[in-house]
Amino acid sequence: MKKNFVRLLSLACCLTAGIVLNAQQNPGTESFNKDWKFFLGDVKEAFNEDFNDAGWRSLQLPHDWSIELPFDSTSPTGTGGGALRGGIGWYRKTFSLPAASKGKNIFIDFDGVYCNSEVFVNGHSLGLRPNGFISFRYDLTPYVKFGNQSNTIAVKVDNGQQPNSRWYSGSGIYRNVWLTTVGAVYVDHWGTSITTPVVSAGSASVNIKTIVRNSRETSAGITVKTVIYDEMLRTVQTRVGALNFSNAAAKELSQDFTVVQPRLWSIDNPYLYKAVTQLLVNNKVIDEYSTRFGIRYFNFDVNNGFSLNGKPLKIIGVCDHHDLGCLGTAINRRALERQLQILKGMGCNGIRTSHNPPAPELLDLCDRMGFIVMDEAFDMWKKPKNKFDYHLNWDDWHKKDLQDQVLRDRNHPSVFIWSIGNEIPEQWAGRNGEDSSGTVIARELAAIIKTMDTSRPITSALNNPFPENAIYKSGVLDLVGFNYHHQDFKTFPQKFAGKKFIATETVSALQTRGHYDLPSDSIRRWPQRWDKPVAGANPDLTCSAYDNCSAPWGSTHEETLKELLKYNFASGMYIWTGFDYIGEPTPYPWPARSSYFGIIDLAGFPKDVYYLYQSLFTSKPVLYIFPHWNWTAGQTVDVWAYYNNADEVELFLNDKSLGVKKKENDDLHVMWRVAYTPGTLKAVSRKNGKLVLEKIINTAGAPAAIVATADRNTIKADGMDLSFVTIKIVDKNGNLVPNADNLVKLELNGKGLLAGTDNGNPVSLESFQTPARKAFNGMCLAVIQSTGKPGNISLKLSAENLPPVTVNIVAR
Ligand code: GAL
Repeated sequence: MKKNFVRLLSLACCLTAGIVLNAQQNPGTESFNKDWKFFLGDVKEAFNEDFNDAGWRSLQLPHDWSIELPFDSTSPTGTGGGALRGGIGWYRKTFSLPAASKGKNIFIDFDGVYCNSEVFVNGHSLGLRPNGFISFRYDLTPYVKFGNQSNTIAVKVDNGQQPNSRWYSGSGIYRNVWLTTVGAVYVDHWGTSITTPVVSAGSASVNIKTIVRNSRETSAGITVKTVIYDEMLRTVQTRVGALNFSNAAAKELSQDFTVVQPRLWSIDNPYLYKAVTQLLVNNKVIDEYSTRFGIRYFNFDVNNGFSLNGKPLKIIGVCDHHDLGCLGTAINRRALERQLQILKGMGCNGIRTSHNPPAPELLDLCDRMGFIVMDEAFDMWKKPKNKFDYHLNWDDWHKKDLQDQVLRDRNHPSVFIWSIGNEIPEQWAGRNGEDSSGTVIARELAAIIKTMDTSRPITSALNNPFPENAIYKSGVLDLVGFNYHHQDFKTFPQKFAGKKFIATETVSALQTRGHYDLPSDSIRRWPQRWDKPVAGANPDLTCSAYDNCSAPWGSTHEETLKELLKYNFASGMYIWTGFDYIGEPTPYPWPARSSYFGIIDLAGFPKDVYYLYQSLFTSKPVLYIFPHWNWTAGQTVDVWAYYNNADEVELFLNDKSLGVKKKENDDLHVMWRVAYTPGTLKAVSRKNGKLVLEKIINTAGAPAAIVATADRNTIKADGMDLSFVTIKIVDKNGNLVPNADNLVKLELNGKGLLAGTDNGNPVSLESFQTPARKAFNGMCLAVIQSTGKPGNISLKLSAENLPPVTVNIVAR
């Protein structure tokens, strides 16, 4: 364990070395993830200090036990919960604290435990926390021992009452845990609040409020020195203030700064400043606390929608749940970063944390990478969506949970909108006027947020665009948001005169990567009712990846996009969803176990429609044609192209032109209806008659080789970093074999672990952990994790009748 006295030193080193500290890593805070013991099942005595856990499994956090279990059609979580079981689990960790920490305050911080956790230290219960998505702290100080004596933390996690979620929740201590050691006087937990009340190109005013806590009944005179640093860690401005305590208390100090010619935070250049707060007594630093923040201004306008730093910006965001595909919900920074990189690549600029407070790392990454975040609190209030969901905890916990979310998240420049709830059942009651609870609760929640943050608008993702809606009628929605109903965008200004609009959730198109139902211009709406899956729609439980399949309450991608792009008053939208997620396998029943909604599949492989967004919302030149070119002779096949930066596209089959097409009016793609013959399909895009891009798809022959590509061949040997290896089955000429389902076996050697495998097939019941995975429509994925030791990692891939290949990765 790191000694407390190195706290300040370590900060100094970071500053001089130019390393930017993680928002979580104040010098008094250290990771508490290592060396835990775990048992799946309930053990009544496990809270006891002297309980013998020698037989329990050793692991390091974050950990999701459900992802390790087999898919199970009888799981009480249902396919909605991914057909993976919950249950009760226990975690224990034995640790010691240095003698030098005696007299200090010791806290344990959990970023999130799913769910109903009870935490014990040395046999004392510290409390229960039902909400599986909230971050929370306990004070260990009264119960811990120092020096040679050991301490035990025991955590009971109860995810046994099912169903309690509409999607895969995961189970366990699935986010990071921290141990914080501070002196008697310290900056409080989530103790800073940073706002930028006036921002212009020439200067910005920055206000920093710091809550300092004195934990002793003795007086204290404290100097509070706050320094703002720029990204190069150059001092921008320093303010020094004083606080006097006569007894144990918390006091707030407000400090005002002026940043001349501020570098503004934007989605293209997410510039970050850092405020470092030092508490000093007699010129000696007794605590340090850093907060990263951004300087930006924004507006949601009734007529002109959203603007950032004075420039109009359509929010093209996605909704995502919190699982990381085959890794389950166990948070991993690199896995999150990869998701965001893939989303950036398609021109996505927003994330809605549907429908719960996210991992702090997600917001940290959104700050650094430039996303407009809608930070959502709840999927239900007092009225249930599932028998055992959060409605049971509403009365006791909603206030505290919402307060903690806002306190934790309010300094993130990426957070632009608070959502107080998604499709909340209380909204309906007001229609007939017989139950006003939706109005009352909405007002209460808005008031809670406004006491802590007035700088961001509040919304709620309503179901229908009716002004009679009980939540809307509360009058507290700064931004009116509704889900779906793209045909109602146009009447918004009449129905909601003078109000600002955001499409909180849209689309719900359904697609299986690499599967196509023809003709492509006939649209499937499945299932007829959200709660009635359609087993027989496609017997192989596929959905078409032409943009021609959607849930009936949603639309195809193009249907919504065309509406959204028409209206300046529409600030933007959050598409359901960016990535496929485990659970909610609409429109199909078991054995389907993960969603079809993603623009990107569960393995992280883009579906074709990804390139529609890329062609519209990035400056990258795009010419993308699909589908594959392996069909039955004589079949009529529709070939689609997404393109930009060009006037026209010409398609050739075996060198014969099939004609030139141009997007007319509001077209978002062009299409050729082609009588299939095998060979080579070639598309060229031209601008002013000059070639811009050329794309070729060949008819693939039989599987002949495995091609494997690591997204990164060098990873950090920190026990957490990941390399994502994309595996393709190709023919002898290197063409992807579009229906290949070869079983690929994985053999890993060296300083790496197999973190998971996947292929993006929502119907695959293969385990995410076994070192073998069938390709799905030609592709699968292996995720390699470093062990904590540096060295070489080799991943050998083999499949029957194909020559094996090896991918080499280095952990440094
Ligand atoms: C919405 C809901 C989402 C998801 C989606 C599927 O109504 O808000 O959580 O269930 O439907 O289409």
